[in-house]
Amino acid sequence: MRTPILAANWKMHKNVGEAVAFVEEFLPLVADAEGVEMVLAPPFTALDRVGQTLAGSAVKLASQNVNPEAKGAFTGEIAPGMLVDLGCAYAIVGHSERRHIYGEDDTLVARKAAALLAEDIRPIVCVGETLDQREANRTFDVIGGQLEGSLAEVDPARAEDVVLAYEPVWAIGTGRTATPEIAQEVHAFIREGLAKRFGERASQIRIQYGGSVKPDNVYELMAQPDIDGALVGGASLEPESFSRIVLFDRQGSA
Ligand code: PGA
Repeated sequence: MRTPILAANWKMHKNVGEAVAFVEEFLPLVADAEGVEMVLAPPFTALDRVGQTLAGSAVKLASQNVNPEAKGAFTGEIAPGMLVDLGCAYAIVGHSERRHIYGEDDTLVARKAAALLAEDIRPIVCVGETLDQREANRTFDVIGGQLEGSLAEVDPARAEDVVLAYEPVWAIGTGRTATPEIAQEVHAFIREGLAKRFGERASQIRIQYGGSVKPDNVYELMAQPDIDGALVGGASLEPESFSRIVLFDRQGSA
């Protein structure tokens, strides 16, 4: 059984006060949520206070990025051990904004994933094709390459501690969601790729979908056999909206 994992990626939104206010409003809304894992990824500056406010709840803390080195002269960077200090259970790596705006490649993503696992933080490894790549029928090549490269340093014994996130770049922040069928097709392809690399363990690895997930489309996405959760940007910024996503709101679905 794969426990669904719903994660909020706040990106560069919310100061400390706004982040704490979100948590205070969100926790009562999801107090009865069962059988799902809930994760919040605030900006680095809010991790500490959000972590303190989450203490004793079922909601877990994540960072949006990490540096693979343990310490040293890396101005402006944050090491995995520093995230352990703050109580992070997860960290997002290889988000398309990191890949496209900051030039991160699979080799760096692979090092980050391995460095996190070494500190017992679970990496959420993002992959996804651009619109040009999809239109050129290169989706599977691109995703296959990203998977192989980004997971190259993951010890197979730790495979279940990795979460994948399929985020088609053309669906991120655009309001354009992949249909459940399109998403499922890629998720199934990702699971096959994971099986080649990790064997039977692949059936235990969660694969999130990300890209304009909202309360009114989460139910249909989550109904797909290989979609095990969601990584949510815009619709995770309001407590009510994200709580409906966490509860796979049926009413909102068409
Ligand atoms: P979105 O972002 O939900 O705003 O499309 C998803 C993401 O980038 O993780």
